[in-house]
Amino acid sequence: MGVHILSTGSSVPNFSVENHYFEDMIETSDHWISTRTGIKKRHLAPSSHSLTQLAAEASNNALSAANIKPADIDLIILATSTPDDLFGSASQLQAEIGATSSLAFDITAACSGFIVALVTAAQFVQTGSYDNILVVGADTMSRWINWSDRSTCILFGDGAGAVVVGKSAKNSILGFKLCTDGQLNSHLQLMNVPLEAQQFGVTEIPQGHYNSITMNGKEVYKFAVFQVPSVIKECLNNVNISIDEVDWFILHQANTRILEAIANRLSIPFSKMITNLEHYGNTSAASIPLALDEANRSDKIQPGQIIVLAGFGAGLTWGAIVLKW
Ligand code: ACO
Repeated sequence: MGVHILSTGSSVPNFSVENHYFEDMIETSDHWISTRTGIKKRHLAPSSHSLTQLAAEASNNALSAANIKPADIDLIILATSTPDDLFGSASQLQAEIGATSSLAFDITAACSGFIVALVTAAQFVQTGSYDNILVVGADTMSRWINWSDRSTCILFGDGAGAVVVGKSAKNSILGFKLCTDGQLNSHLQLMNVPLEAQQFGVTEIPQGHYNSITMNGKEVYKFAVFQVPSVIKECLNNVNISIDEVDWFILHQANTRILEAIANRLSIPFSKMITNLEHYGNTSAASIPLALDEANRSDKIQPGQIIVLAGFGAGLTWGAIVLKW
């Protein structure tokens, strides 16, 4: 059974903050942020704009582009690390868009979340279990940032991206490879920390509370620049496609310098990297489907072209998918 990406959609909050705004908040400069990261602004969701609403806007865009009614969706997979509800926001998304006959669940794999979710969706289509699947990557990292930590607060933005995946004689997903190294987990975390505890005799039962994001930027940088080219090469090798045959690379939008270093290691021209982090910053699970949707709607990517998607982030997790568009 072939798996085809039928359509794409995306959404970001209207409100955006440019780099210079941070100059009054923390010790930083527009120059430092743009030269070290490539980011110029990011969109941030006010309290009235929930993760579920952002995900629903992206989903509705993708559904109308595919001309598929919400009721025809069999499964919704929402990749997010910042759900409105810790039990999962996919069911809230299901209700919001009226996809009443679908199963809905969340996947948490940080900035690799969309890649993991798309591969998961492909398995359900290939086995014949489901026909139409909505795959969404959405994050509101702004809710979990320590705004006085200059090493992280300038990096992240909020957004959502979605694709509709369906069974087809045409096969879009040629190959994939997904990886995790839990030993590196401490480099990038959003940890549950006990705030208070309930005493039962001598035993303390902690009351959960989440910390802000913590990141060892240098280690994550080194990890990404080493592991991402390697997983891309392995993935292409597995499907007998050479690096020169790839038309476009759509990687997790974390840092322009990371993308440049990966392009160097792959010996590809940087012009083959689709980038938009200048406008959005790092939108975590949303970054790849957001860039994919922009590239699709602007006709940058064309039917028949070979596209590599690759994600990396907390876990640490990373992975690549080879697509034929
Ligand atoms: N403004 C000014 N100076 C700053 C800022 C800032 N916003 N942030 C850090 N600095 C300072 C540091 O304090 C340090 O100063 P010091 O030398 O006096 O100690 C100096 O700048 C250099 O700091 P580095 O951490 O070495 O800066 P670097 O060039 O490595 O850039 C960055 C930091 C942008 C975070 C980079 O390491 C990076 O992009 N790492 C990868 C992040 C990433 O990819 N995350 C993806 C996953 S996110 C997810 O999965 C949810």
